[in-house]
Amino acid sequence: MKALLSEAPGTPDTLVLREIAEPVPGRGQVRIAVRYCGINYPDVLVIEDKYQFKPPRPFAPGSEMSGVIDAVGDGVTAFKVGDAVIAAATSGGLAEKAVTAANACVPMPEGMPFDVAAGLIFTYGTSYHALVNRGELRAGETLLVLGAAGGVGLAAVEIGKALGARVVAAVSSESKAAAAREHGAEVTIVYPREGVDSRVLAAQFKEACGPKGADVIYDPVGGDYAEPALRTAAWKGRYLVIGFPAGIPKIPLNLTLLKGCDIRGVFWGAFRQQEPAQDAANMRALLDLYRAGKIKPKISAILPLPQGGEAIKKLLQREAVGKILVACTA
Ligand SMILES: NC(=O)c1ccc[n+]([C@@H]2O[C@H](COP(=O)([O-])OP(=O)(O)OC[C@H]3O[C@@H](n4cnc5c(N)ncnc54)[C@H](OP(=O)(O)O)[C@@H]3O)[C@@H](O)[C@H]2O)c1
Repeated sequence: MKALLSEAPGTPDTLVLREIAEPVPGRGQVRIAVRYCGINYPDVLVIEDKYQFKPPRPFAPGSEMSGVIDAVGDGVTAFKVGDAVIAAATSGGLAEKAVTAANACVPMPEGMPFDVAAGLIFTYGTSYHALVNRGELRAGETLLVLGAAGGVGLAAVEIGKALGARVVAAVSSESKAAAAREHGAEVTIVYPREGVDSRVLAAQFKEACGPKGADVIYDPVGGDYAEPALRTAAWKGRYLVIGFPAGIPKIPLNLTLLKGCDIRGVFWGAFRQQEPAQDAANMRALLDLYRAGKIKPKISAILPLPQGGEAIKKLLQREAVGKILVACTA
């Protein structure tokens, strides 16, 4: 089978397409014939050895996939050969076949296309957990989303809107602002791609959020964008730490005192392991939102497996709107 491998730490250009033996599922594992692999920012980080998990090399990056189970290991009772599944693993998705833990899979809902399935649970799962469990977002509150046209950002816009919040979306271009509006943002702000003036940006955020400020701030960007966003927090606001493609910010703690606000960390992968029952409830709620047409994952590009590196590069170069997928056998 074909797999796009990381054989040494480096940029997406270092990935190589190889013909390798099909992996064999061990106890508690399944093998998936992968239709689509959804690309996420952690794929940028994992191939450079900058992510929390470091799979042994050589490995195929790609943690989110849809496909059909074609082999099961001992002890697997929840799935059988032929079942269509969505999986959120740590790696392995950029290949024609991938082995993953059976408990990393969920059955694909009836009628859901394979491409939608490969772009749903990682971003929407993260944003649902962030907004509901960590942010305690309530109807009528104001939600400020940074990087609002990216994978997790656009999911946060849609979920925020579905939960009844007023969504203010901040992005780096007019075309990204249009995408955020199409997916439910009421107000959009375009910030500079670099050279952020903290005071100017804080004033922009405050004007867009209104006199009370933002009850919940969803920040998957970090860097120089973080402090102006925190300065926009309402009294008792919740600032959600999601990720740092623009760099890890240092925050003056006096801001939390002045606002009576919280800075709350979000780690979806760890949450799934620590709180499996709550995670399962979140998944059911997400699928209900999907069936009700309240969330509509945007797929902006689908590339073939040999171009999997180009797909990852689109995130690195800040070009992705919604999800980028790789067609592995589709
Ligand atoms: N905490 C968790 O559990 C969890 C789970 C999943 C993902 N994440 C993290 O969330 C972040 C976003 O992931 P994603 O998959 O949604 O990625 P993505 O689609 O590439 O979105 C990232 C957004 O960040 C903004 N950005 C600002 N500076 C950037 C830079 N130098 N390089 C790239 N993007 C930059 C871009 O929006 P603008 O151009 O509009 O600024 C971009 O749309 C990542 O840090 C990822 O690791 C965290």
